[in-house]
Amino acid sequence: MGTYKRFPITIKKGKGCWVWDYQGKKYLDAVAGIATCSLGHSNSSLRRALTKQLKTIQHVSNLYTISEQEELGQWIVDHSCAEKVFFCNSGAEANEAAIKLARKFGHLKKRIDQPLILTAKDSFHGRTLAAVSATGQPKYHKGFEPMVKGFEFFMYNDYESLKLLLQKIDSQSPSVAAILIEPIQGEGGVIPGDLNFFKQLKELCTKNKILLIFDEVQTGMGRTGRWWGYEHLGIEPDAFTLAKGLGGGHAIGALVVQKSADLFEPGDHASTFGGNPFATKAGLTVAKEIEKKGILSNVCERGQQLNQGLKQLVANFPEHLLEARGLGLMHGLVIKEESSLLSQTLVENALYHGLLVVSAGPKVLRIVPPLIITKNEINHLLKRLNTTLQAVVN
Ligand SMILES: Cc1ncc(COP(=O)(O)O)c(C=O)c1O
Repeated sequence: MGTYKRFPITIKKGKGCWVWDYQGKKYLDAVAGIATCSLGHSNSSLRRALTKQLKTIQHVSNLYTISEQEELGQWIVDHSCAEKVFFCNSGAEANEAAIKLARKFGHLKKRIDQPLILTAKDSFHGRTLAAVSATGQPKYHKGFEPMVKGFEFFMYNDYESLKLLLQKIDSQSPSVAAILIEPIQGEGGVIPGDLNFFKQLKELCTKNKILLIFDEVQTGMGRTGRWWGYEHLGIEPDAFTLAKGLGGGHAIGALVVQKSADLFEPGDHASTFGGNPFATKAGLTVAKEIEKKGILSNVCERGQQLNQGLKQLVANFPEHLLEARGLGLMHGLVIKEESSLLSQTLVENALYHGLLVVSAGPKVLRIVPPLIITKNEINHLLKRLNTTLQAVVN
């Protein structure tokens, strides 16, 4: 279907941080399946583990215990603030589960008839109907109304806006069950969460018995240099969602909960493919590989190098660029509002210069390479970005 506006290349193969198209042209991949191929392309450990898994068993129903699923669930529990995990197949699906959980929490724990969920403006939570309704960007709603009811929006990183919204809602009768929020807004422009805002948010949730749910679909599994984005904010959510980097390029999603949000009972929720042996083996291998190879420190070091390099680009192109922001290997290069330059123009031209990057809105270029990227490759990336900028602004 005509769902995607595609760039004029077809990618044939990949190795590490590099991909090749059918004409044999080589590109440095700073998109990584949009923050997904954490170990790069064709990683040998992942290849070996999944080949073995295919020879053992690929799919069984959740009617039975699945040992690979148990193992990955245990790994996530051991490495996070959580107690239980539900597996599904994508970020949107993980958020759907979180939305159902929030509503159950509202009904069960707060006796709310019509539980509301608050989310941030410019957020992104996925494209299924409830997830897109939770997404605070009207452009994604247009043409698909009516949206699912039960979502209200506040300004990200703006505590006053959240407080005002809550006062307005609760002046009738308390009805807010949960707040769903990204620790760094990804698609909305790579905007890191403000420490003070999140501290106040946590206090507000605790005081008002509101479930705090983080969407860690993009930030989770090491993307920011820590396992989970919430670690940068010094607070813990009651629940969080994962997908993208969890499978290193294989379809998997998860809803992860603390005791306070451990509410699903048999029959409440399910997924045919969720947590199948193949996908969970992929997740487990990604997790172990990141641990074994010390990849989190690489993310921190390369992230700093990238940040400094991007700041240099901002200094080189002061008429067009505003700032570089982000954490670990999730960075945005922000274009000035008054500049006629658009991120899409940069993306298209970077392609010509052998570099894959992606936009996060019209004025932000998003750089989310594989977590294994090397020092030389970051230098290479920065050089190609510089060349691209020179070509488009001259
Ligand atoms: C923060 C966030 N949540 C949810 C999603 C949706 O994930 P998926 O495309 O796997 O459904 C995305 C995808 O970009 C995302 O960045």
